[in-house]
Amino acid sequence: MNIEQLVHIAKDLVAGDKGLLAMDESNPTCNNRFAEYGIPQTEEKRRTYRELLVTTPHLAESINGAILFDETIRQRLRDGTPFAKALTARGIIPGIKVDTGAKDLAGHPRESVTEGLDGLRDRLKEYFHMGARFAKWRAVIRVNEVLPSRGCMEANAHALSRYAALCQEVGLVPIVEPEVLMEGDHAMDRSAVVTEEVLRAVFSQLYTQRVMLEGLILKPNMVLPGLECTRQESPDEVADGTVNCLLRAVPAAVSGIAFLSGGQSSQMASARLNAMNIRFRSCVPWPLAFSFARAIQQPALQIWQGKNSLELEAQQALSHRVRCNAAARRGEYTPDMEGTRDQGTFGELSATGKAI
Ligand code: 13P
Repeated sequence: MNIEQLVHIAKDLVAGDKGLLAMDESNPTCNNRFAEYGIPQTEEKRRTYRELLVTTPHLAESINGAILFDETIRQRLRDGTPFAKALTARGIIPGIKVDTGAKDLAGHPRESVTEGLDGLRDRLKEYFHMGARFAKWRAVIRVNEVLPSRGCMEANAHALSRYAALCQEVGLVPIVEPEVLMEGDHAMDRSAVVTEEVLRAVFSQLYTQRVMLEGLILKPNMVLPGLECTRQESPDEVADGTVNCLLRAVPAAVSGIAFLSGGQSSQMASARLNAMNIRFRSCVPWPLAFSFARAIQQPALQIWQGKNSLELEAQQALSHRVRCNAAARRGEYTPDMEGTRDQGTFGELSATGKAI
C-alpha cells in the first residue's frame, strides 16, 4: 500500500466544490429504473445511457469521480474508448462498486448483510489494472421501533471494514457506505440515534481491521425523518441533526464525507447539502460533499427515455444538477437556480433537444 497515494486520491475525490457521480446501479436496479420510462432493458441501452452521462460536456467542472458498475467498466464508448479511460481523459477519477448486493441476514427477519468478500482481493486487483482508483461498498440498515438489531449492525460493519482494508492493500480508496434507509414512518430523532450507533459500530470495526482513516471516504445517509413521517424537518434542522450526529461518531482523520441521496428529491438533496455547508463548512473537520445517484441522474433519465434525439437535453439536465450540487457545497445553492437550466454549456436547445 502506498499511503501517500491513497491519501492523495481520497483528498482529490472531495476537492474544491465538486462531488462524485454514482452511476453504479446493478443491472436489476438500472433495469427497474429503465422500466419506469419504458426504456428497453438491454446491455446496449445501459451502455448508451452511461455514455450519455460520462460525455456530458464540462462534467469535470463539478465532478471529481464517477462510480461505475462491473458491466460498465468492461464496456467502451462508441468510439472504442473504455469507460475508465474516457473518465480519466476528462479529469474524472474512475471508481467501481465492488459489493455483490444486500442479502437476507440469517436469523434476522427483514434485515440484510451486504456480501462480496469472497475473491474480493483478486477482483480489486483487476479493477485497479482497469484504471479504477477507488471503490464502493454499500451496507443497508432498515429502521423501525426495534430495528436495526445489533447483529445486523455488527455484521455489516465487519464486512465494510474487511472490504476497506482489502481496498487499501491494493491501492484503491474505499468509499464506506452504511446507508440507514429513509423508508418508514420513523421520526428524524430515531434516524439520528440509529445513524450514530451504526457509525460507531463501523468506525470501531475499521479501527480493529487497521484501516487508515485518512485514506477513506465516508458515504453516509443524511439524518432524515422517514418518508412516511408526518413531521418533515426543514433543511436547516436536517443540517443540524446530520452534522451533530457525524461530529459525535466520525473521527476527524477521515478525508471526506460524500452523502448519498437515498430517494430524496433532487432539489431537496441540494437544499439540505447547502444548509449543511452554510452552517458548518467552516467548523467541521471534513469536506461535506455529495455522491448522489438518483438525485443527480433522475431528471436526465426522465428526459432521455431511451431516445437518441433527447440525449442533449438529458445531458443538460444532468449538467444542471451537478452544478446545483457544486453550488450547495459552496453554500450558494438557491431554489431560484431551478427555474433556469444552464444554457451556457450547450447553447440553446430546440424542442427536440438538438442544439440550435
Ligand atoms: P442514491 O444517491 O440514489 O441513494 O445512490 C447512492 C448510491 O451510491 C447507492 O449505493
